[in-house]
Amino acid sequence: MKMLICGKGGSGKSTLTALLAQQYEQKGKDVVVVDTDESNLGLHRFLGVNPPTDLMDHMGGKQELMGKMMSAMKSSEGMMNMQLFEKVWKIQDIPSACISENGRVKLVSIGKIHQAGEGCACPMGFIAKQFLKNLKLASDEMVIVDTEAGLEHFGRGVEEGTDAVLMVLDPSYESVLLAKKAADMTASMKLPMYFVLNKVTPEIASQMKKELPVEKIIGEIPLDQDILAAGLSGKTLSGFSSAIEPVVQNIVSVTMNS
Ligand SMILES: Nc1ncnc2c1ncn2[C@@H]1O[C@H](COP(=O)(O)OP(=O)(O)O)[C@@H](O)[C@H]1O
Ligand SMILES: [Mg+2]
Repeated sequence: MKMLICGKGGSGKSTLTALLAQQYEQKGKDVVVVDTDESNLGLHRFLGVNPPTDLMDHMGGKQELMGKMMSAMKSSEGMMNMQLFEKVWKIQDIPSACISENGRVKLVSIGKIHQAGEGCACPMGFIAKQFLKNLKLASDEMVIVDTEAGLEHFGRGVEEGTDAVLMVLDPSYESVLLAKKAADMTASMKLPMYFVLNKVTPEIASQMKKELPVEKIIGEIPLDQDILAAGLSGKTLSGFSSAIEPVVQNIVSVTMNS
């Protein structure tokens, strides 16, 4: 299965991505974490790996891809026929320079913004969408897609290549608004959607539940000192406090059975 993690900036998307990757690995899965956030520089640290070569750079860089996209757009069918990856391809086909591994968890990064004024992130969205859509997984393989803040990936169609969407909400009005909008979008795409409330107390969680479809909420994670400390120092997120582990396990069992 391919699951996309979304939410507002700072809500905990990358943190949950790393925690889930470990849990899926413990359930016997080969996990590929796909980093589609062009601004996030720290996910590899949460996973305990070095940053891999960006797929974008491996494919010639942003300017080259932008040029190809511009010429493909000149004809009506040009973009539809533009193939960056084989129509059916597998994890073993990903270039080894573009993978960083820790045990059975692999990190693949679509592309990062390296320079001021280098142009929009459209080519990265295009790569992400096609990468995910064409990738065929074996039954013991799992993909987790970490995204940039907000809803832009919906506009780029990245969700089209995934099987489920998990939104992380921190306790803010903005998160609740985003969740409602994302729920409408995933419903129109017929994609299963789940919510995880992060950095909450039971009181705050029950307040948030008044605004949200409760049946979609599959986890409530408290503000945790170990996660906070690991986030500050850029340490690998390994091991869970007793308060976190059952929550993450529940998220894994619900999503694995979806
Ligand atoms: N449950 C939590 N308890 C404490 N700190 C958290 C928790 N979840 C996330 N954080 C911290 O919040 C910050 C933002 O988390 P991050 O996962 O990078 O968010 P995002 O990827 O959504 O932008 C990080 O410093 C992280 O360590
Ligand atoms: Mg992030």
